[in-house]
Amino acid sequence: MSAFDFDTPVDRSGTHSSRWEKYAGRDVIPLWVADTDFRAPPVVIEALRRRVEHGVFGYTTPPPELRELIVARMRRLYDWKIEPEWVVYVPGVVSALYMAANRLTQPADRLLLPTPVYYHMFRAAQYAPRERTDVLMVLDAGRWVWDEGRLAAAVLPGTRMLMLCNPYNPGGTIFTRAELGRLAAFAEKHDLVIVSDEIHCDLLLDEGKPHIPIASLSPQASRRTVTLMAPSKTFNVAGIGLAYAIIEDRALREAFSFDLKKSVHDASLMGYEAALAAYRDGQDWLDAQLSYLRGNRDLVESAIARLPGVKTAHLEATYLSWIDCSGLGVADPHALFLQHGLGLSPGADFGAQQFVRFNFGTQRSLLARALERFERAVLAAGK
Ligand SMILES: Cc1ncc(COP(=O)(O)O)c(C=O)c1O
Repeated sequence: MSAFDFDTPVDRSGTHSSRWEKYAGRDVIPLWVADTDFRAPPVVIEALRRRVEHGVFGYTTPPPELRELIVARMRRLYDWKIEPEWVVYVPGVVSALYMAANRLTQPADRLLLPTPVYYHMFRAAQYAPRERTDVLMVLDAGRWVWDEGRLAAAVLPGTRMLMLCNPYNPGGTIFTRAELGRLAAFAEKHDLVIVSDEIHCDLLLDEGKPHIPIASLSPQASRRTVTLMAPSKTFNVAGIGLAYAIIEDRALREAFSFDLKKSVHDASLMGYEAALAAYRDGQDWLDAQLSYLRGNRDLVESAIARLPGVKTAHLEATYLSWIDCSGLGVADPHALFLQHGLGLSPGADFGAQQFVRFNFGTQRSLLARALERFERAVLAAGK
């Protein structure tokens, strides 16, 4: 039995939770935006409590110890040797996507993106603003992967940046060393900056499939890559306002950092405290959470396997099932599930109208109720 409790429901009403407020007052189970219903690791809660009790919350510089923890973490987990000054703190990975698209390309440049993908990647291109070319991800042997033929054909004059989401949201793929090696070689050949959103890097559900930062593959890959990570998904502290970019190349780092202390605020002091505690002492909690999430993933996958008209590829990472509803024959699967009391993420947001994304990062009792509603909706569509 786990020393940590993931089973007892936590009432999030009154906490202004984005996920729960969206459907407040309605009989809708909200399983959309990517946070979980789990309390953060006790070591994080305790660190925040200590900091709150201090009582003064002024402007704060990043603790040197956190930089050292991140350096040590990259070395321990990925055998990736980074220097402390490569770490650039930002209030969130989303800010970093926008900063990268805007500051690391010129107005006439183009971006290469996978599709479907986490919608802020589309928006980063849109608001930079830069033209983009979307490369359709394909199912190969049950995994969502890059179609390398399509990728090669998508390079146009001015293509300057490749955006990667690893592990992949949606779809959950943990890209292999060989797959990443081919992407890195492709970026080298076309002289592309790689922006690698690795925010889900710790949410690895399939044992024996390691996360590999693309920048860790080689000095060449490192020099052209902006790696984005955060404790927010890993330890369920998405509201604390801290993420970081790892950028070796000084010119890229300086260009990326242009908006910091101008339009982009410093990372939050509570973020530093939470990250310090989580990275220093949170591993046991993370292991227990992963085991719980694996159980949830298996429940979702077996429920879907039993139902007509819906299917999903096996999810290697993340707590976000990506469900193909094209067999249901309905125009708007998201609306169908909502009618049956389930607030999922519309696939359309990610570029795939016939899909929904199902966040199973919740207590098993609520997941069971959600799966009942899911089943009811699917069966109703078949009538
Ligand atoms: C791929 C990806 N990147 C970034 C984010 C959000 O990052 P942040 O909360 O640090 O801005 C999410 C959240 O769902 C995500 O899935």
